[in-house]
Amino acid sequence: MRPLLIAVLLAAAPAGAQVPTGDVAAGHVIATTWCANCHVVDQSPTRAGDAVPSFPAIAAQKSTTVLSLEAFLQTPHLRMPNYQLSRKEIDDAAAYILSLRH
Ligand code: HEC
Repeated sequence: MRPLLIAVLLAAAPAGAQVPTGDVAAGHVIATTWCANCHVVDQSPTRAGDAVPSFPAIAAQKSTTVLSLEAFLQTPHLRMPNYQLSRKEIDDAAAYILSLRH
């Protein structure tokens, strides 16, 4: 995580930003379209030995928040293609991932 980016996001975030504002159903479509090539995106048994974390596993991490997901998805990732997701698509994908949290 880049501290500067997080600081910018925190400064820009409206109060209550920890509550997902995205559309979970739209986020599911994004996940199955753009993310399912690499990630397990549904509540299904995780594949043992998979180097890519499943979305339910990501959701289960205590460190995962709306802000951490949005920061991650706005940052080009070494092994993840840069999808250039729109702000709304990032919100939706973050809301979907967090909807998998038990
Ligand atoms: C080309 C394969 C690939 C695609 C497609 C992909 N990812 Fe990933 N993703 C990865 C890999 C590999 C990692 C693990 C990176 C690492 O931690 O080294 C990862 C990690 C993540 C993480 C961080 C997990 C954590 O531990 O915090 C998130 C969040 C994430 N991906 C979301 C997405 C979303 C949302 C999409 C679809 C828009 C997506 N990914 C598409 C390969 C992919």
